Order: sequence, then structure tokens, then C-alpha cells
Amino acid sequence: MILLNPGPVNVSERVRKALQGPDICHREPEFADLLQRIRQKLLKAFVAGGEADYTAIVLTGTGTAAVEAAVLSSVPHGKRMTVINNGVYGARIASMIGPHRLGVAELKLDWGTRPNLDQVGLALKQHPEVHAVAMVHHETTTGLINPVKEVAEIVDRQNRVFVVDSVSGLAGDPLDICGSKIYMVAGTAGKCVQGFPGVSFVLVRKGFMERMKGYPKRSCYLNLPSYYEDQEKGSIPFTPAVQLYYAFDEALTELLEEGVPNRIQRYRRAAAMIRQQMQALGLKPLLPPELQSNTITSYYLPGGVTYQVLHDHLKEEGYVIYAGQGQLEDKIFRVANMGALSEHDLQGFLAAFKRVVESAAVR
Ligand SMILES: Cc1ncc(COP(=O)(O)O)c(C=O)c1O
Repeated sequence: MILLNPGPVNVSERVRKALQGPDICHREPEFADLLQRIRQKLLKAFVAGGEADYTAIVLTGTGTAAVEAAVLSSVPHGKRMTVINNGVYGARIASMIGPHRLGVAELKLDWGTRPNLDQVGLALKQHPEVHAVAMVHHETTTGLINPVKEVAEIVDRQNRVFVVDSVSGLAGDPLDICGSKIYMVAGTAGKCVQGFPGVSFVLVRKGFMERMKGYPKRSCYLNLPSYYEDQEKGSIPFTPAVQLYYAFDEALTELLEEGVPNRIQRYRRAAAMIRQQMQALGLKPLLPPELQSNTITSYYLPGGVTYQVLHDHLKEEGYVIYAGQGQLEDKIFRVANMGALSEHDLQGFLAAFKRVVESAAVR
């Protein structure tokens, strides 16, 4: 099956085979070596040149675990976090801090709208109790790229901490973590890194990790300083999904061989191919080109065609597309181009898509 959903993604045979690594105990040096390799490769891939300033924490858990660990670990006693929310994943961050009463009025925007930078600056001035700002890099809900660099500048100027959810962004769209001095970035193995879901990670500025050691521990499983303490000794606080770590390690080797900028270009070309054909078929994208990421395009459903029918016909042909969420559920469908997809796979999908939308059967 060819997956055109934003994770899980199709992986290479090499990554799949890595799952068959030997059974090992996570308290043995073999696991310590595997963990350190993964951590080093993450730094090399995403903070090249700034490896000395950042550390990578690896968790067993999906992307949400990494985001929640970053969010809950980042706020000291008596301080708050504000969330820039323009989609399902921004809303999810707000829902993480709600039960801990860490939030202040979030900057809530329409889906598909980027934050107004003046408003962000003003909100920070009005709320000195805000210690950290959280935002999603690539809002998977719509396929929108948020202005991380610009927001990072404002957050930095006002001496606050910036936490970024780049679960669907890292290795798909550019993110200058070092240049923008971003404090924390959460990511996953199971999307543009082309590994399996179930392992995730947080890239953290080392100085901030030291500061977080003095912050309240709001979760037993998702406390970053606890992971840091153990991982620096080659250990991990909880039983890891060892086989997924093998595959993640292989996926990172593959990523470094391809090169992050090359992968981003490959995804950009794939998205361009999809967009060209969809335009030729008269489909209307949800977002204007300047807001679109390299890896997801959202389209309004063609007239008279329901998502279910479109999805089911394409699935019969071997292709899985993705539905809209929430308020967009009945209006759009999404096509992702993450994963080990060849040009041949994409051409096959586009040919099937054309057949399906032009056939009377879907109407
Ligand atoms: C931007 C973003 N953040 C967080 C998540 C949550 O990741 P997971 O489903 O792996 O927990 C997703 C999943 O699609 C996402 O796209």
C-alpha cells in the first residue's frame, strides 16, 4: 500500500530489516551504544554545527509524547506558557497545559491563518508571567508552515523560551534551530525521518536543560531532565521499544546519507508534481502556495464527491489519502508526500487519482 497520509509513512526495506536486530537488554552496553548513536545522528541531522549547544533526548512514545515532555518540562513555578494555536496540534498543546493551569489566553487563530507578529509581541509584553511560547512548525491539520524564524526573533528579544512542535516538519521543511536559537524542538521517527512511529525525540538547548532541572516535575514519564540524567550515562529511565530504536537508527543513517537539504528538496519536488496534476484536474487547494509546506497539500473535495467514496476507490487501487479534521472533515482531503516514495509511486497515485475522479462511479 502506498501511504499518502502524514505518517505512518512507507519506509525503505533497509529500515524495515533493521527491526530484526538482535534481542538485547536495555541495561547493557549494546543499548547504550545504540542510544548514543541515535542521539548523535539527531544532532548531526538537525543542529549541524551547533552540536555542542544542544542535546537530544529520545523517548519511547509517539510525537505527542515528545511534545508533551517538552511543554510540561519547560515552565518554572509561578510562570505560564502561551500557545499560538492555528490548528489541531496547536490546540493539542493548549490541552496539555490546561490541566496543569499553566496557560494564559492562547493566541487562537483561524485554521489556515498565520499569527500576526505584532500581536505576538504585544501579548508577551502584556503577560510578563509568560515564561514560554509554544508553536507548531508545520500544522498538519492544513499543511500550513508557521513563521518560526520570525516568532523566534520576537520570543528571543523578549527573553522568553520558545518550544516548537516540529513533529511533521523536521526533515520535510527547513527549520534553522541553531540560527533561531530555539530552546526545544519536538520530533518523531515516524514521519519525514522515515522510521516507524513509536519513538520520538526532543532537541534541547543544553543551557536550558540545566535550568529545567530546577523546574517542577509535572509528569513521571514525560520529564525531560530525568531522561537527560539517564541518557548522559547511556541509560534510559523506562523500558525502550528496542527494535524500533534499531529502525530509527537506520532511518537516521539513511537521512544523513541523503542529506537533510536533499530530502527537503525531494519532498518539495514530489509536492510540486502532485500540485501540478491537481491543478490540471481543477482541484482547489485550501491554502495559497506561500503558506503550503513541502509535504502536505489540502484540497477541497471535488463537487459531488464524498471523502469516503474518494478514499475507498483510491484504496482499492493501492493508495491511502487522508481526511480533513474537525471543521474541515467534510470539506477537504489531504495528500501527504512523506516517506520512502519513488517518482513511480507518485505517478501511479496521480494516474489512479485521475481515473477515480473522472469516473462516474464516485459521483
Ligand atoms: C504537528 C504534529 N504534532 C503532533 C503530532 C502528534 O504525533 P503522534 O500522532 O505521533 O503522537 C502530529 C501527528 O500527526 C503532528 O502532525
